[in-house]
Amino acid sequence: MTSEADDQIICIIGAGYVGLVTAARLAEAGREVRVVEVDADRRAAVAVGLSPIFEPGLDELLSAVVASGRLRAVETMKEGVAGAGIVIVAVGTPPTHDGEADLSQVRLAVDQALAEVAPGAVIAIKSTVPPETTRALGRDSTRQDVTFVMFPEFLREGSALEDLRHPSRVVVGGEDVAAVRRVAALLGGPDTTRLLCDSVSAELIKYGSNAFLATKISFINEMAQLCELTGADIEKVADGMGLDPRIGRSFLGAGLGWGGSCFPKDVRALETSAGYHGQSFWLLKAAIEVNSQQRRRFTAKLLRGLGGSLEGRRIAILGLAFKPFTDDLRQAPALEVVRQLEDLGAQIVATDPVALDRARSLLPRATLVADPYEAVTGADAVGLVTEWPVYRELDWGRAIGLMRGRLVVDGRNCLDGTDVTEGGGVYVSMGRRTRGLPPQAPGSTAEGVYSSTVPPVPLG
Ligand code: UDX
Ligand code: UDX
Repeated sequence: MTSEADDQIICIIGAGYVGLVTAARLAEAGREVRVVEVDADRRAAVAVGLSPIFEPGLDELLSAVVASGRLRAVETMKEGVAGAGIVIVAVGTPPTHDGEADLSQVRLAVDQALAEVAPGAVIAIKSTVPPETTRALGRDSTRQDVTFVMFPEFLREGSALEDLRHPSRVVVGGEDVAAVRRVAALLGGPDTTRLLCDSVSAELIKYGSNAFLATKISFINEMAQLCELTGADIEKVADGMGLDPRIGRSFLGAGLGWGGSCFPKDVRALETSAGYHGQSFWLLKAAIEVNSQQRRRFTAKLLRGLGGSLEGRRIAILGLAFKPFTDDLRQAPALEVVRQLEDLGAQIVATDPVALDRARSLLPRATLVADPYEAVTGADAVGLVTEWPVYRELDWGRAIGLMRGRLVVDGRNCLDGTDVTEGGGVYVSMGRRTRGLPPQAPGSTAEGVYSSTVPPVPLG
């Protein structure tokens, strides 16, 4: 056990999407940071200032703070917590098969830290954990001279550094006010909103925030279905709803629904945790069901657009990452969509600007190519799954020309469709009218197909 705890020295356990970005930001802000990472490859990369994950701006920052000596990657907990005043736990909390959060990594990291940490240190839980976990860790701890707080993260992948440099709020929960204040001082500036509370409330602020945003997305996806049945335009509807400051336009983006490392596991974990307390969280059950339906709806549009059979059809999938500006494929909608299409007999050619390496082992039957034009060459249809800017800026006339078919299904409503229709293609999206079909097509009107039924689109 080392000498006095010094809050200038911070130890972060876990160099993942959250731990590594947090470590780099704290080092940038002048703290001396040690990252304890069990994965030898990740540790080796961080030790030389290379980021093992794709996150805008992280490579540059990491190489700077490692070169300055303010951030070091270490193997042992002893090295990591030596003299540290605050130890941040950012290890994984993957879902168990029944949806509960698996806390084994958190418990192991905490036990190892408690064996070495300096008297007076604070252990701040940044991993997303079910209600009452932080208090239980404190209760079960062998060290009365160490306190625990919940320090939830709200960063979004793809804009994580920005979110940490300018946090919209800092939330810290715990039963020891002094410890809570010490951790709350780590992020943000004098004008940053800080909410200090008890640990259980902080745990539920985290889950509640993710679950509410996920529910908001599922709501707009249900509205999108109704738009398809009534001929309305979901983007207009979302714009209109979003004008109400009580609603807001953000996270009213209809499409393939939510994925990623957080929403799917946190929504299920919250619903499961409520169940353990005897509560049926109906809203979340519905949000989960609507979300999985969105992938099936997207697949159905391709199936119908190609005449009801995908046997021997070649489909180009644009985008694999769960959202743009990340290489993270965890719970990415693309994985489900590709599997559904392959199970229906389609041959998939997929592309993504940064996530191809991670996709190779996850999509063994698909052909993965870096160039989107190569991906669409000879394709009977294109499915746009991740709204990377490169796909918005595609020369759709050229793309349609390279395809065998001319059906483009936009699962993120990120194209306005004119580029596709002017390129001779048929544009299908989520919650909006199909465009570009010949006037005589069944149910079509001047503006395009009136109802949600996507009729078979004749090949080019
Ligand atoms: C993690 C949590 O999973 C999530 O609940 C929370 O909201 C934010 O932090 P993320 O950073 O995305 O999310 O996790 P992941 O990318 O899996 O990183 C965890 C890292 O911890 C991995 O690099 C893993 O190797 C490392 N780890 C895990 C340790 O260093 N020690 C351990 O004992 C366990
Ligand atoms: C989320 C939370 O936003 C963040 O605060 C928390 O810390 C971690 O989880 P992240 O998973 O990086 O961040 O992604 P986010 O930008 O929230 O998107 C989540 C999912 O919702 C993505 O799959 C995205 O494509 C989808 N989404 C988002 C929609 O389908 N429609 C929208 O309008 C917004």
